[in-house]
Amino acid sequence: MSQYVPGLQGVPATRSAISDLDGQKGILTYRGYKIVDLARHSTFEETAYLLIHGELPSAEELARFDDKLRRNRHVKYNVREIMKFLPITGHPMEMLQTAVASLGMFYPGEECLTGSGSCADLDYVENMTVKTLATMGTIVAMWEHMRNGEDPVSPRADMGYAENLLYMLTGEEPDPLHARIMDACLVLHAEHTINASTFAALVCGSTLAAPNQVVASAVGTLAGPLHGGANQRVLQMLEEIGSPDNVDAWLQETLANRGTVWGFGHREYKVKDPRAVILQERMEELREHKDGDVSPLFDIAVRLEEEGAKRLGPKGIHPNVDFYSGILYAEMGIPSDQFTPLFAISRTAGWLAHWREQLVNNRIYRPTQEYVGERVREYVPLDER
Ligand code: ACO
Repeated sequence: MSQYVPGLQGVPATRSAISDLDGQKGILTYRGYKIVDLARHSTFEETAYLLIHGELPSAEELARFDDKLRRNRHVKYNVREIMKFLPITGHPMEMLQTAVASLGMFYPGEECLTGSGSCADLDYVENMTVKTLATMGTIVAMWEHMRNGEDPVSPRADMGYAENLLYMLTGEEPDPLHARIMDACLVLHAEHTINASTFAALVCGSTLAAPNQVVASAVGTLAGPLHGGANQRVLQMLEEIGSPDNVDAWLQETLANRGTVWGFGHREYKVKDPRAVILQERMEELREHKDGDVSPLFDIAVRLEEEGAKRLGPKGIHPNVDFYSGILYAEMGIPSDQFTPLFAISRTAGWLAHWREQLVNNRIYRPTQEYVGERVREYVPLDER
């Protein structure tokens, strides 16, 4: 019927009203609102509400949603017990996937999804949306302390999502600028059309699996270095380059060997990712706030972007969202293997928005394939082979 397209490039896999992007102009919108405006004026809570419910909330709606998020931050003791048995040397994304997958054991109810009628108005859908979104941050922060042999820091209900997240991660009340920057990072990573992890979420959700399983599938997909795992690789790459003076030679050698410049390139954007533009601005703001006292990796990144523009720019390969995010997180004292979990916390809003959108008119994903194997043949008994 139709032609096989590797990576499904350009093949519409769903119909969605959640976000849109113009890869030629570098414009990303959530429900029609430009990401640059949301990063400047909104909060993660408000943006999550927008993605999930389709409209910006009124003051009262936002207060109610935010209050629910704050009241759902605690993680069950038994989830903590499960986490305790995981090896501290494991990657936090593996831990996160395990912990999220376990939530369904403690909050059963996926049979609500198999009942008749629209699922979008079920209490279960709403409660699990809030519960999952609220606990993602707590799980990630708990692990930071548990793997260092410390007790986790309990969430605080008097702080917004971003501020509380930084507080739980570091154990200290964060610098207000750090909290604002973290909030913007959460807004910027919350949604991005039908990317690999969102597609994984939709495939899982189309079987009417429970929302924690939907998010666990997406977390596993986000973990790979070609997707969310790139932010950690960027920092390693900048450390390896070591100095702005080494950028030219490093880039030349990497490209000659067909290596990867982490944090560069995107299936959809042929110009600089608008999220990278905003994250770079935030990094400049932080540098000013700290009187220039930021990691030298930032200068290496800026030089790499300049040199990359000459060599990769003509192919439409430019910095993506992962290029500057890690440098910012590192400035806030966050270890590099926690960068992708931070991405997952935020993207949970988008994954669950897509899950809910799909539930209203669900059809199980069941694509076809082009078979290239052997045709029907006779079985050969073992002693004749
Ligand atoms: N460094 C070096 N070369 C690159 C890069 C890069 N970062 N990105 C693409 N290219 C080259 C490819 O080698 C290929 O070259 P060729 O035509 O000579 O074979 C050409 O550009 C096209 O690249 P594809 O991999 O076919 O592009 P695709 O759309 O499939 O991949 C991807 C996009 C996976 C993001 C790719 O650009 C990449 O690997 N980037 C590095 C990893 C990264 O930063 N990922 C995060 C993406 S953002 C996100 O997921 C949140």
